[in-house]
Amino acid sequence: MGVVSPAIGAPVDRIEGGDKVRGEATYAYEYEVERVAYAAILQSTIARGTVRSIDAADALALPGVIAMLTHENAPKLQTDDGELSILQSPAVAYRGQIAGAVIADSEEAARDAARLVRFTYEEEKHDVELRYDHPGLYKPDKINANFDTDSTAGDFDAAFGSADVTVDETYTTPAFHNNPIEPHATIAVWEGGDLTLYDSNQGAYAVQQTVAGAFGMQPERVRVISRHVGGAFGSKGTPRPHLILAVMAAQLVERPVKLAVTRQQMFSLTGYRTPTIQRLRLGAGADGRLTAIAHEVVEQCSTVKEFAEQTAVATRMMYAAANRRTTHRVVRLDVPTPAWMRAPGECPGMYALESAMDELAIACKLDPIELRVRNEPDVDPETGQRFSSRNLVACLREGAERFGWNAREAGRDGRWLIGAGVASSTYPARLTPSTAHARAESDGTFTIRITASDIGTGARTALTQIAADTLDVPLERVHVEIGDSDFGQAMLAGGSIGTASWGSAVVKACRALRAGQDEATVDTSDDVNSYEPLAKHAFGAQFVEVNVNVDTGEIRVPRALGVFACGRIVNPKTARSQFIGGMTMGISMALLEESVIDPRFGDFVNHDLASYHVASCADVREIEAIWIDEEDPHLNPMGTKGIGEIGIVGTAAAVANAVHHATGIRIRDLPIRPDKLLSRLPSGGS
Ligand code: MOS
Repeated sequence: MGVVSPAIGAPVDRIEGGDKVRGEATYAYEYEVERVAYAAILQSTIARGTVRSIDAADALALPGVIAMLTHENAPKLQTDDGELSILQSPAVAYRGQIAGAVIADSEEAARDAARLVRFTYEEEKHDVELRYDHPGLYKPDKINANFDTDSTAGDFDAAFGSADVTVDETYTTPAFHNNPIEPHATIAVWEGGDLTLYDSNQGAYAVQQTVAGAFGMQPERVRVISRHVGGAFGSKGTPRPHLILAVMAAQLVERPVKLAVTRQQMFSLTGYRTPTIQRLRLGAGADGRLTAIAHEVVEQCSTVKEFAEQTAVATRMMYAAANRRTTHRVVRLDVPTPAWMRAPGECPGMYALESAMDELAIACKLDPIELRVRNEPDVDPETGQRFSSRNLVACLREGAERFGWNAREAGRDGRWLIGAGVASSTYPARLTPSTAHARAESDGTFTIRITASDIGTGARTALTQIAADTLDVPLERVHVEIGDSDFGQAMLAGGSIGTASWGSAVVKACRALRAGQDEATVDTSDDVNSYEPLAKHAFGAQFVEVNVNVDTGEIRVPRALGVFACGRIVNPKTARSQFIGGMTMGISMALLEESVIDPRFGDFVNHDLASYHVASCADVREIEAIWIDEEDPHLNPMGTKGIGEIGIVGTAAAVANAVHHATGIRIRDLPIRPDKLLSRLPSGGS
């Protein structure tokens, strides 16, 4: 049954790479559309209250301005999604919420006019601050990805109370914002009752379904084209409110409308990772064997939509311990709704767990790798299921060898303190149904169509390799077309599920051709359900060296190594980019990124890349990702686990652990800024 020929595993260049560097790859905003008009977004300037009046006279008097769209003239939507349900009333639920649009003949005129519109409000008191003891905290029915909100096994309190060694610490992470290079953009084109969207997203099918629902249309009347997407990280995983606005605007002016979200607007309109407050309690014997694990999480969502991140879920399966508890509590604040950001749940959750494991290793006087090895479970501690494959220990050992872990010593070189840290990484391996279409052309080539999304990952290239191998033909004879909702239902590019899900459908369609069909449309719904229900997860180990300046508190990361066990690697070149991209984002999370809320105005104060710092090349020195060979027949026809997100998981903990190793200072609230270290560093020493 296996896929045989040699394309899978080859470091194939991105198929559209040449188009991208030549500027010939067309992104959403770049499509040329006749009679197009431009919309500029109007945003609320209060965090809670009601719009009382709108003075648009000056804006409408500007040359080129066509119309204003506000709650006073917006069409009624048919969605119960409180975040997408824009302009349905004068109510304001967060600062920066969409309050309308100005539509004009040029982008410049639209933006200029938008600055002239004056709103007056009936302002109410707002609350935007997440606190551990917030009276509004509640237990959601479920957390994201449909996990149980809480979990419990054994008697945590008794086991923790009688443990030889304990750790009881609270870790916090701030809000983080996704900053893909291409901000969100869309062009909405109505023709008769049909709607075409050129849109930047992670899944054209999901956009089609959501927009059709909101406007009460048959999905077939909505076509979404998204051939190239300049990054997303989760922020384009579900349609954002600006998309609804663009569709409404095009309806209003009876012309196609282009709408680009500005970088500044992204900080209130395209989601963010919820801040978290996480209490970790670990109880162990003197030998480091865990007897008790508790992970209790507090996080936020908005008043318009529940979003309950699955922060403690990875803790349920990482380490063996008979007595366990995890909880999630959420408070609704007057803030934008949090959303997806690379490894939602695992990323902030594993920062806390893997920091606590480091603290436990020190308390037990054990090497941090040895501590993890001693707590390796035989089966998933939560479900009792066997693992389809679990190579965490192999990753830790391989990494230790390559990194020179056993020789690590906290040291000093002039004004710089030197240390190294390690942390585990994990991400679930899932599979969802998709459809695909394959056709044998008369010239000997093959055309594959699937509503996949390549958000910069190399998905198009990987699918071409998978198709070529299944068909047993050279890559050049395979043309994979993606990013068009006309190609049918498919998984979106999220949850590191894309390649597994789309690849399964591509394999099935190509096998039908090999069986003699000229053309085949397939659906993997039945196949997805036929796999054995095992615990399926990718694992990894993150190793980081840091240098900390004793005078300034500056932290540098001269060296980072990630070792991953992610099943079969389809394309080592693009996979490596995913891993080191994730690791870079993890270093960025550890040291730089932080969305700062101003409680007076109820908004994030940093709204651009000058004030929201993202790691750049200069922040990343030697960074490498490798993987171990892992054969796992329980996953999908390719034997792949997702690779898009695991790179970020555990990186921040490895950095924090390294900072502690170098300085003896434990920072439990990210990011680890120089000012948090400075007063505690041994400066003035020689
Ligand atoms: Mo990714 S945050 O699962 O889109």
